[in-house]
This record gives sequence, structure tokens and C-alpha cells, in this order.
Amino acid sequence: MSARRLHAASPRVAVTIDGAPAMLPVGESLATALLCEGHVLLRHSPRDGTPRGAFCFMGACQECAILVDGIVRQACLTPVAAGMAIALKGAS
Ligand code: FES
Repeated sequence: MSARRLHAASPRVAVTIDGAPAMLPVGESLATALLCEGHVLLRHSPRDGTPRGAFCFMGACQECAILVDGIVRQACLTPVAAGMAIALKGAS
């Protein structure tokens, strides 16, 4: 079964993404959930402003660092949970 099918079959919980309500599959990697929802770009490099997105999906590259509930987290190591406030534009 593909990641997209697994993503579609999982129970969803309410979160916000940049203040907008969204529903993501509970327990799934936040990086995978965001990617399946079309959020390929997660942040911009603080050094040169280039767009960045999840790369390794295993906690090694730091490219998926985003703000979750005001704390910088690695999206690939963070499971989706109800009520998360996800800021894709605020992390650097
Ligand atoms: S995608 Fe590489 S650390 Fe998360």
C-alpha cells in the first residue's frame, strides 16, 4: 500500500497550519503528513532564504525543522497530535 493510501486511511485530528484549520492523520510523521497534504516546502534557510523541505525523513539533515506549538521540532520525528499549531512560515 502506498504512503498516500495509508495517509488517506488514517484517522485524522484537527490541527492548525499557519493559523488555518487542517486535518492530519494522527500518529503519522508530521513531515510525511504535511508532504501528503502538498506542503513540500517547510521553511526558508535563515542563511540565504532558499526554500527547504524534508530530505532524509530520519532525523539526520535538520531540513524539516519547523515550529510546532512555538517550539522548533524536526517534523520527521514528530508524530501528528490533536491541536498542534504548526507554523511553516515561522521556522528558520
Ligand atoms: S527530514 Fe531530515 S531531519 Fe527531518
